Amino acid sequence: MCGIVGYLGFRRADEVIISSLKRLEYRGYDSWGVAIGNGKLSLVKKVGAIGDVEEYSIGDGTLGVGHTRWATHGKPSESNAHPHTDCKNNIAVVHNGIISNFQMLKEKLIEEGHEFKSETDTEVIPHLIEKYYKNSIEDAVINCIVNLRGSYAFVAMCANERKLVACRYKSPLILGVGDKEFFLASDVTAILEYTSRIVYLQDGDIVILTDDGFKILNDCVEVDRQIELVPWGIKDAKKSGYDHFMIKEIHETPKVVEDTLSEYVSDEIELDVSFAAGISEILIIACGTSYHAGLIGKYVIEGLTGIPVRVEYASEFNYHPLLVGRPLAIAITQSGETADTLEAMKKAKKFGARVVTITNVLGSTATRIADHTLYIRAGPEICVAATKSFIAQLIVLYVLALKLANLPRHEINELILELKLIPERIQRILDAKDEIEKIAKRLAKFENMMYVGRGIGYPIALEGALKMKEISYIHAEGYPAGELKHGPFALLGEKTPVIASVIEDPTYEIMLNNIKEVKARDSIVVAIANEDDKEIDKYVDWVVKVPKTNPMFSPITQSVALQILAYYTAKERGCEIDKPRHLAKSVTVE
Ligand code: M6R
Repeated sequence: MCGIVGYLGFRRADEVIISSLKRLEYRGYDSWGVAIGNGKLSLVKKVGAIGDVEEYSIGDGTLGVGHTRWATHGKPSESNAHPHTDCKNNIAVVHNGIISNFQMLKEKLIEEGHEFKSETDTEVIPHLIEKYYKNSIEDAVINCIVNLRGSYAFVAMCANERKLVACRYKSPLILGVGDKEFFLASDVTAILEYTSRIVYLQDGDIVILTDDGFKILNDCVEVDRQIELVPWGIKDAKKSGYDHFMIKEIHETPKVVEDTLSEYVSDEIELDVSFAAGISEILIIACGTSYHAGLIGKYVIEGLTGIPVRVEYASEFNYHPLLVGRPLAIAITQSGETADTLEAMKKAKKFGARVVTITNVLGSTATRIADHTLYIRAGPEICVAATKSFIAQLIVLYVLALKLANLPRHEINELILELKLIPERIQRILDAKDEIEKIAKRLAKFENMMYVGRGIGYPIALEGALKMKEISYIHAEGYPAGELKHGPFALLGEKTPVIASVIEDPTYEIMLNNIKEVKARDSIVVAIANEDDKEIDKYVDWVVKVPKTNPMFSPITQSVALQILAYYTAKERGCEIDKPRHLAKSVTVE
């Protein structure tokens, strides 16, 4: 939540910062601001979407900081927007995270004569820096952070020093290294246009940037951090002719599946699973869509290996973290920065679990907490709604389950072959997306929907409903189809369409019965079913047909279809889609 940027180099800082902030808007977008230093501070702060550089005369300096905000303390307003400054408007700070002891610090600073202009927790930082400032922003920042509790990634500058000082503690921050220029940002996508040479900063790191280079301190000692080359390019962070990042990213899924598969599978599975030796139980911890991937993983791993799998929302696990035996904890997180998931990983470690993370982001915090990392190869995902990364997470879970399974070799080989056909099957869904769009246009007028499934179809329903509610603002619930008659039937009727995930496995017959029960209550039923299923047409109003695959892999094909359904429904309703209201891509506060 919130995106921060810092620049020191030879280009106009306002141009670099605004273009980088626009790529970070998915982290928060209720207000924004930029400060440029050129002997004095030039400051612009605005509510709403980030504007174009030509609209503002921010100043032509080559050093500055910027911020896009997702409100935590204080409503969206110009005064609460970052950068925040000290009493004399000499020091500017942009911050992501929460200063948990800000109230106490603020009261003390006010007693000492500091004047506050905002309701934010962040504002204590520039005032503390001001308090400690003698003639070096570097020294003042070092003294300031001793006072801070909570989590922070912040960048500080002082009008009369050609220097940026940044600190990272429990909130993401990376350093981009260019040729005679340096960038600080909440994540890599912000600065891909300028450099792909990245230093992943660690908790406790303080970075000092000057025209001569950079220095990193940790615990008052200068440390070496490696510069890594990220394999992503600027085209990954652009819409490339699509109306929205969401549909672009859905279209990238076949390639993402191929890339992720080729990471772990050639003729056979090449995944070292020594981290799972002797385990008695698997605990999957995750949030949102990643949690749904975990639920699907449970069906697959338990089905193929017999190892019991528990799936917990990270935010819930953190408050009753019980583990027994020799568990393996798998933390699934696209960003690698979700605060609840990171906390759950630490708790699982304390209980003696080995921790593996499945993540998309190289060098993210999750990779540093985990004992072992399994990367998905999804490329940058900009749309707040997770699509291609969800499918890639499933691919890694399938590969892991197959590797842990004690099946005859020929059966494993058949399943691998089937997995390798998935990209082509997804492509066929994409090629027929107009059919899904027609159904979406009809659904767009409803305000409530019920998604149902049985067995592995149940988490598909949960994820389908999450995607729909998140981007179209239609109230959508996911339910096990068999549970409808235990309460939710009361909600059904002609105003509440039901989206049914129909899988050709042992749940098929009973699912048809459930659909008939729903029809008897006058709800429109849309089935997601195999293309060769002629029977289903008799019982439902509309069918989204997907290519037939082994039922175990149907969460992939069905979920792509449901993502497209949600996309076109939201588009028909004129929703913002890539940046749904009140949401941020990386939830870096608990
Ligand atoms: O980066 P993570 O996978 O840890 O994020 C978890 C959730 O915040 C995320 O999946 C969220 O639910 C998505 N917006 C759903 O589309």
